[in-house]
Amino acid sequence: MNLDTALQKHAEWKTKFRTAIAQKESLDAETIAKDNCCEFGKWLYGESTATFGSLESHKNCIAKHKIFHIEAGKIASAINLKNYTEAETMLGINEPYYNASNETGVAIIRLKKEIGFNSAEKHENVNTQFFDWRDELSVGNPLIDNDHKKLIKMINNFHNAMQEGRGIDVIDKVFNNLSIYTSEHFKREEEEMLRINYARYEEHRMEHEQLLKQVEDLQTELNKGKMILTTKMSTFLKSWWSVHILQTDKLLAAAISKAKA
Ligand SMILES: [Fe+2]
Ligand SMILES: [Fe+2]
Repeated sequence: MNLDTALQKHAEWKTKFRTAIAQKESLDAETIAKDNCCEFGKWLYGESTATFGSLESHKNCIAKHKIFHIEAGKIASAINLKNYTEAETMLGINEPYYNASNETGVAIIRLKKEIGFNSAEKHENVNTQFFDWRDELSVGNPLIDNDHKKLIKMINNFHNAMQEGRGIDVIDKVFNNLSIYTSEHFKREEEEMLRINYARYEEHRMEHEQLLKQVEDLQTELNKGKMILTTKMSTFLKSWWSVHILQTDKLLAAAISKAKA
């Protein structure tokens, strides 16, 4: 089972629903609502249980994936009833489907990480970074990819500074650099979106805005000296960026290359 494919497949549902709304298509709502019919679901309930069934992240995947399909089924039903406006609203930011989709994405990444850790231990591979750049993270746009690579490097720097127990001044500086570069990167993407008249501009921009708000809150915590939150901080950033790149930025990069063609 390729978990990156599973992640992408589930992210694609949003596009499939939008297409179905635009073309007034009917969907197999009953199957969509089931969590054991997609390839990932079959794997979750099938062959993965013997090896990974006892892992917390596996159990979490089953729980989140179940909710994802229940919410997806509701949208499919709304589309079949021709309640297109309602279905469109249900796809919006912070709606149950949106949250279920994000949580499923994070759950899959966690499972992947836990499985990866096990095999890394087996291979005694100690040369990995906290957040590794991997080919699946490429959105196919060199400018955006380079920004993401730099951001991942900065997240690793931040994580390492924590792990090495560097002083608060160092950690604060590293985090500050990361937060500045994050805003600059978001601005670059948003300018591209405006340039190509991107249909999903608002929802993409909202995701950026939400992260900046969270980063700001984290910075406040840091300044208060609440160092307890630190590994939580880098883990949160790693999950957020993985999901955002794989789900949201890939769609943008595809639209940019389409606009160029
Ligand atoms: Fe983005
Ligand atoms: Fe991005």
